[in-house]
Amino acid sequence: MHYFFLALILAAALVIGAAGLRGRVFKSTPVEVFADMDRQAKVGPQAAAAFFADGNGARPQVVGTLPMGFDVPAEPVADGAAMPDGFSLPDSYFNSGLFGEFYGDGLPEEITVDASLLARGKDRFGIYCAICHGESGDGNGVVAQFGTMRPVANLHEARFADASNPEFRPNGELFEIITKGRGRMSGYGSVLPASDRWAIIAHLRALQAAQAAGSAAPTEAVEPGAPPSEPQ
Ligand code: HEC
Repeated sequence: MHYFFLALILAAALVIGAAGLRGRVFKSTPVEVFADMDRQAKVGPQAAAAFFADGNGARPQVVGTLPMGFDVPAEPVADGAAMPDGFSLPDSYFNSGLFGEFYGDGLPEEITVDASLLARGKDRFGIYCAICHGESGDGNGVVAQFGTMRPVANLHEARFADASNPEFRPNGELFEIITKGRGRMSGYGSVLPASDRWAIIAHLRALQAAQAAGSAAPTEAVEPGAPPSEPQ
């Protein structure tokens, strides 16, 4: 029997000696029983590849390829000019929400408020924002209810909806928040073209106006001349 224990201790010492303890940091190359897909045949960015006749690893796009979801401008856009649906363009109000160092309010001249803009804003808000902020913007989306990202900002709070609030975020600041993110919320500038960000802002302002009208309704229903209710 004691040979068995001796063999067991030896085996354990061998395994620990070769493999080390779990979580130990090695400087040398680990022994790989299974490669765990650490190394695989691939062509790095901009690397040469003898496999292709032209020797380039990167393949040119198929003739006629069009970017999805964005209109290709008919003409080259002049420097400093705003491009509809533009990403990473020079800082006009349309692209930054800023006039110099200050957030602007209102919508840029490139944006026309009409039914189609509001419909687009509603559509994009539903896709990109509602999951956290809720369809109505009250901060009660699915993520807010079940996720770990709580609390999600209620966009009907005075600091977002009431222009007389000292912390009010004007449209330009909302644009920047959507573009770059703020606090625990990440930015959506890389997935939403500037025109869609403005459409979302227009939709958000419509939601806020609707909410304000809704909460004002009961007060309006009070008959003129009725005695004011006693404070409780
Ligand atoms: C993944 C969840 C999530 C999504 C999606 C999301 N937000 Fe947010 N948002 C948050 C959270 C969380 C906060 C609060 C951030 C904080 O205070 O740290 C916030 C804050 C904000 C604020 C207030 C920032 C401030 O000034 O305090 C605005 C405005 C806003 N979101 C707008 C939007 C819009 C518009 C969209 C859609 C393009 C969007 N959010 C998408 C989670 C999200």
